[in-house]
Amino acid sequence: MRQKSNERVRQIELHAKPLQPFTANFFILPMTARTRDSDKNTTHPEPVGVRGQVDPLFNEPDPPDVAGWIRLVARRLDAAGLCFASGMQEPYPEAEYLVLHAFAIPLETPPPRRPPPPVNARQRVQRLLEARIVQRKPAAYVTKEAFFAGHRFMVDERVLIPRSRIENMLDDPRGFTPWLHPGRVRRILDLGTGSGCLAIALALSYPRAMVDAVDLSPEALEVAKSNRDRFGLQRQVKLVRSDLFGALAGERYDLIVTNPPYVPQADFDALPAEYHREPAMALVAGPEGLDLVGPILRQAPDFLTPGGLLVCETGDEVEKNLMARWPTLPVTWIPFHFGASGVFAVVREMLEKWREGLA
Ligand SMILES: C[S@@+](CC[C@H](N)C(=O)[O-])C[C@H]1O[C@@H](n2cnc3c(N)ncnc32)[C@H](O)[C@@H]1O
Repeated sequence: MRQKSNERVRQIELHAKPLQPFTANFFILPMTARTRDSDKNTTHPEPVGVRGQVDPLFNEPDPPDVAGWIRLVARRLDAAGLCFASGMQEPYPEAEYLVLHAFAIPLETPPPRRPPPPVNARQRVQRLLEARIVQRKPAAYVTKEAFFAGHRFMVDERVLIPRSRIENMLDDPRGFTPWLHPGRVRRILDLGTGSGCLAIALALSYPRAMVDAVDLSPEALEVAKSNRDRFGLQRQVKLVRSDLFGALAGERYDLIVTNPPYVPQADFDALPAEYHREPAMALVAGPEGLDLVGPILRQAPDFLTPGGLLVCETGDEVEKNLMARWPTLPVTWIPFHFGASGVFAVVREMLEKWREGLA
């Protein structure tokens, strides 16, 4: 079963883009951490234990410097057989990130300039190991922050940790231009906004566009609101509680972007503990992972302007399920630098034609 979990993590690349560097000179993240193929974590032994039965620290003396603490934490993370897929992909970079955070040292500080450990370093490290190893919290929930499209977002267990592959389209200077001229993008919908990361990144990329950020979860919308307000985007990004398009009657968008839940239930059940700290409603989508993607495909044409574009993430496995269910679906799978897709784009008219064919 454990092996199956790991297989699943690799196969379906579940919303698995790692945390992103905050700045170009962010020292602790190798560039390889930006790709899913760096997920080399192939062993997931059982959790170290349950709360209270484990001393997440050790019987060794405190290391004299920050580098020593990082090495020590990296060894503990590695030995605990954690899943690093939604974080830094590897124990050492994750240890470095967590220790710097725990010691309140700015991430950009290069190793030679790092100050000595704080006097209560041991308690701080104890707390982080308790959260990460014993409770199996992903790193982003330990630090309550995640990096996406070059921006820092507040996150907690009310929202999925941002890692949508759609980010690669925002990174790419060509963006959505093969389908959509940036000058014509006036209204954008982010369906299933979670932390608001896509809506906010899009609002910053398209400063003249108005963005609706929709979610069914009131808790997720609270997180999205605090991120939106922190970016000062109250006038540009509107938060809407809606079950898919349910509360959007009469609205039309030039661009609809969505990273909906798409994990088949059985796959979700087999995933490592870290995924189960995320809201199930952000991940699970029925037996084939199509419970939301299907209705989105059918309804999107009614909410797009002429020539408007739908961009939707499905992950690799659901890409296959989708094309098996609807082989004539006229979508383009976006080729990414890591050699896979799992994100499609389709313009309104083609989707409308396909929908007519279904009737
Ligand atoms: C995979 S998460 C994506 C979050 C964010 N867009 C991102 O990429 O990090 C999917 C989001 O869809 C929301 N969601 C689930 N079912 C929904 C529904 N029926 N209508 C609207 N949003 C829904 C979840 O609450 C969750 O925030």
